[in-house]
Amino acid sequence: MPDKFPERRWFWVTLALSSISIVGFVFAVWELLESRFFRDADYLTLHYLYISRGVVSSFLLAFWAAWFVLRGRRKSEQQLRRSRARYLGILNCSPAAIALFDSELVVEEWNASAEELYGYTRAEVIGRKLPIIPAEKQHEMQMFLAQASQGKPVLDVETRRCAKHGDLIDVQTNVLPYHEEEPGHYFLEVSVDIRERIRLRQTLLQVEKLTTMGKMAAGTAHHLNTPLASMLLRVQLARKHVQNAGVDMDLGDLEGSIRYCQQFVRRLLDFSRRPQLERRAEEIQGTLHSVLSFMGPQVLAKQAHITLDMDQASGSAVMADRNQIEALFLILITNALDALKLNGHIRVGCHTANQRIHVTVEDDGCGIAPSDLPHLGEPFFTTKPVGKGTGLGLSIAATILQEHEGCMHIDSVQNQGTVVRIELPLSSRAVMPEEVSV
Ligand SMILES: Nc1ncnc2c1ncn2[C@@H]1O[C@H](COP(=O)(O)OP(=O)(O)O)[C@@H](O)[C@H]1O
Ligand SMILES: [Mg+2]
Repeated sequence: MPDKFPERRWFWVTLALSSISIVGFVFAVWELLESRFFRDADYLTLHYLYISRGVVSSFLLAFWAAWFVLRGRRKSEQQLRRSRARYLGILNCSPAAIALFDSELVVEEWNASAEELYGYTRAEVIGRKLPIIPAEKQHEMQMFLAQASQGKPVLDVETRRCAKHGDLIDVQTNVLPYHEEEPGHYFLEVSVDIRERIRLRQTLLQVEKLTTMGKMAAGTAHHLNTPLASMLLRVQLARKHVQNAGVDMDLGDLEGSIRYCQQFVRRLLDFSRRPQLERRAEEIQGTLHSVLSFMGPQVLAKQAHITLDMDQASGSAVMADRNQIEALFLILITNALDALKLNGHIRVGCHTANQRIHVTVEDDGCGIAPSDLPHLGEPFFTTKPVGKGTGLGLSIAATILQEHEGCMHIDSVQNQGTVVRIELPLSSRAVMPEEVSV
């Protein structure tokens, strides 16, 4: 059987041999002293001589053994410290977040990457229950532990962990049984942050979805456009000839519905085929005025109060395609109007800062439910009834802004109102008064 502790055995062999040598040496010295100085000594003197030999050798032995054992212990403590430092070093070098815990999830080890990823310091978690498992993942964790305690590691599972500041983090995790003491008693969780990977995957999915929908939209729009135009013409002609007021009203409704379908088709086309942009310096105040005057009838129908606060941006321009910028404001103001009750308020503000123009469209309408906020801008997402909403407005607005290096933020409180803030880069070119069209 191979010797498990050769060093330990050598320690005791060296101690025993060196002790025998010490005793041998003391005895030899005393023998010499006796033969040299006490050859004729009496019995009592020799007696004391032997006693002193015993006392000296036991003292020497005791000192030697104590020193030897202490030195050995210090050496092994040093080795232990060194190997612990090495093990901590390796643990902290790992780019993955590593946590070692027992079956009660009480943390034993926590590396530097875990500190960085989850925001908890080592001191905050060691000896405490693992704080990073979100409530909805507790059951999953118990299943991982059950699997790992049977010796089957859980490998490369995508899940979520909760950071100290409360954010949920997407991670790819491995839960491994750790055999330091009894098997299955300790577990290692090794996780890497995959938020960026998930984001890219979602973007890719979105792009795929948009491409498919773009193709679909183009086909649908193409097929519907011509029959819609001829239907509208026929209804308009029919209205001219009818005498009956009831029929005229019906035809009016029909005309309205056809116009809605045409608008939907036009938006689908906008969505699928981006026209070539014609950029020039567009004075923002004038563009907003022309959009608002175009929307006059809808504003009147809603008896909405519109406040304009644009003096700060007077004369400021953006390098933009006029049609696109008009479409952008049309979408935002239509949404605000749709959200209003009768006699509601819309405030359109405009100012410049940091070489950018900031436009705010604020309404005191119905607001947006928190659960709907993440879906804003998704093509076809609408909360409006069929026949009213297309769900394409905000996604077209987002595309226009993207093409003009702009951005949009929407803040909303349900039943209180919504603020849509957009930003566009200022044009460096000044706008000539004759270019301004109101
Ligand atoms: N100002 C606003 N107030 C309340 N809800 C809004 C506002 N702007 C957008 N929304 C919400 O966003 C959804 C998507 O808007 P949009 O993309 O323009 O499509 P649509 O207006 O056709 O529904 C709307 O259905 C509405 O629920
Ligand atoms: Mg809309």
